[in-house]
Amino acid sequence: MTYRFPYNARILGTGSCLPEKVLTNQDLEKTLDTSDQWIRERTGIRERRIAAKGESSSTLGARAARQALSRAGVAVEEVELIIVCTSTPDVIYPSTACFVQRELGAANAAAFDISAVCSGFVFGLSIAEQYLKTGRYKTVLVIGAEVNSRLMDWTDRTTCILFGDGAGAVVLRREESEEPAGILSTHIFSDGNRADMLIVPGGIGKEPVSTQAVEDKLYTLKMDGQATFKVAVKRMVEASKEALACNGLTLEDLKVIVPHQANMRIIEAVADKLKVDISRTMVNLDRYGNTGGASIPIALNEAVENGMINPGDLVLLTVLGAGLTWGAGLIRW
Ligand code: ACO
Repeated sequence: MTYRFPYNARILGTGSCLPEKVLTNQDLEKTLDTSDQWIRERTGIRERRIAAKGESSSTLGARAARQALSRAGVAVEEVELIIVCTSTPDVIYPSTACFVQRELGAANAAAFDISAVCSGFVFGLSIAEQYLKTGRYKTVLVIGAEVNSRLMDWTDRTTCILFGDGAGAVVLRREESEEPAGILSTHIFSDGNRADMLIVPGGIGKEPVSTQAVEDKLYTLKMDGQATFKVAVKRMVEASKEALACNGLTLEDLKVIVPHQANMRIIEAVADKLKVDISRTMVNLDRYGNTGGASIPIALNEAVENGMINPGDLVLLTVLGAGLTWGAGLIRW
């Protein structure tokens, strides 16, 4: 089904922020029963970034946002809404978005977080899209920011090798136009029946914090990797095809895919099933690992910076994350 809106929602600027500290596979070899070769062959990851003391989703997110605003030529006072997509908020409350607002001095914005883990950015973009296309807001900032390193069990080789920290941001603007342009559509999905597949089981709202829960490592990520792998490929392909069909477009029309950066084998399988050459798929997980909700905006920013995405290009975003949540977005750049 194609939805008609009175306005377009365009991305005017992108930005990202990666912590300076690099943790290589060789570093992990020193403390874990793993090898650089295993990690590279099974995931494609060589290294990831780790937030320093004092860095958090809000500080990384604010830095990414400043870059996006500056490239968009948009003053911070113009921002009316800040959406932070994070599964590693600074604190339980207030929202990380409110800390970002304070850091930026975005006094005219409403600010809130959304929780859709790795799919967060596509979900956040979808919210921004509705506000812009219906005419409610003119300028919206969407930020994906994570400090996944703080949720890792650093003795669990099946999870801690995969993740990294970072933030990415986009500035979106409402535009009047005869022709659809910018965010063409977003498609978001969830399956709560699979909530346990990827989970941080220790929940402050479920049970009070306890030393027992800390000893049982309930505040760290648990994942059924193989099951996630299979469902990721299936759902990312499905959502991508739905996005194209909704806009009357085909795989031949696609210029670039910016997939969630979880595992090189997932990215290759998705590109293969969509019959898109891997050279047209943005990949940077070798350097950053899986940065959760920050992964797509970081990759999108890099694709813009390195000239992979140019005006007029049709760009597909596709993702799966904990929840389960998944989705796709189609953008005419
Ligand atoms: N180093 C060495 N050996 C390892 C490591 C490691 N780091 N991790 C696991 N192994 C071992 C296992 O113990 C197992 O050994 P065994 O055969 O003796 O039992 C063997 O390697 C194979 O393990 P598998 O789990 O079968 O490995 P697989 O090829 O499935 O790769 C991985 C595991 C990388 C986790 C993969 O399943 C994956 O990427 N899954 C998807 C993750 C994902 O997409 N997450 C999505 C979003 S994340 C979010 O939303 C928060």
